[in-house]
Amino acid sequence: MELITPRLRIREFIESDYQALRDMDSRTEFNTYEREYASEAETRGSLDESISTQLKIPRTVYRLAITIPPVDTVKGVIKISRQQEKIREWEVGWAVHPDEWNKGFATEAAWSVIDWAFREFNLHRVVAFCHADNAASVRVMEKLGMRCDGRLRETRWLNGAWWDECVYAVLEREWRENKNLTGHEHQ
Ligand SMILES: CC(C)(COP(=O)(O)OP(=O)(O)OC[C@H]1O[C@@H](n2cnc3c(N)ncnc32)[C@H](O)[C@@H]1OP(=O)(O)O)[C@@H](O)C(=O)NCCC(=O)NCCS
Repeated sequence: MELITPRLRIREFIESDYQALRDMDSRTEFNTYEREYASEAETRGSLDESISTQLKIPRTVYRLAITIPPVDTVKGVIKISRQQEKIREWEVGWAVHPDEWNKGFATEAAWSVIDWAFREFNLHRVVAFCHADNAASVRVMEKLGMRCDGRLRETRWLNGAWWDECVYAVLEREWRENKNLTGHEHQ
C-alpha cells in the first residue's frame, strides 16, 4: 500500500525504519499527550506490529510511514484501522516528527489516507480521538472537516492524572461534500 500526496509519500513500514521511529519516540514533546515515555522495547514492538499487520487477511489495520521525498526517512506515522464493523466505522490517528510540525504534514497525510479508506472500504464514518488538551491534533481534525462528536470525561490516565478525550468524526457524505466544495483532490 502506497499513497503519494503533493509533498509526501505514505508507505508500509520496513525493518530498517527502527532508528527513525526511535528518533521520534525519544523526543519528549512527541509524547506529551500520549504516554509518559516510549521505551526502546515499545518502539520495537510498534514497528513489529506495524509490519505483522501487513500480512493479515482481511487487513483491518494500516499503520503507515510518512516520508518526505526525495528522502525516505520516516518523519511521521499515520494509522487507520477498523473500529466498528457493523457501522463501517474506521479510526484514524497521526503523529509527525517534532522537527516537521506545523507544515501541514499531518493534515496532508490524513486527508489522503481517509480519502483512500472511504473509497477502498466503502466506509460510513471515520473517527478520531485525542487528549482534550492536544490543540494541534484538534486543529488537524478541524482542518480535515471532522466534527466534534463529544468529549469523553476522564478516559485517559497519564502522568498520574485523569484527562478528557475529544472525539471527532466525518461521515462519508460530509467528506464527499467537502471535496466538492474545495474542489481539491489533495488537502
Ligand atoms: C498532532 C500532530 C500530529 C500535528 O502534526 P502537524 O504536521 O504539525 O499538523 P499540521 O501542520 O497539519 O496542523 C497543525 C495545526 O495545529 C496548529 N497548532 C499547533 N500547535 C498548536 C497549539 N499549541 N495550539 C493551537 N494550535 C496549534 C498549527 O498552527 C496548525 O494549524 P494551522 O494550519 O491552522 O496553522 C503533531 O503535533 C504531533 O505529532 N504531536 C505528537 C503526537 C500526537 O500528539 N499525535 C496525536 C495523537 S491524537
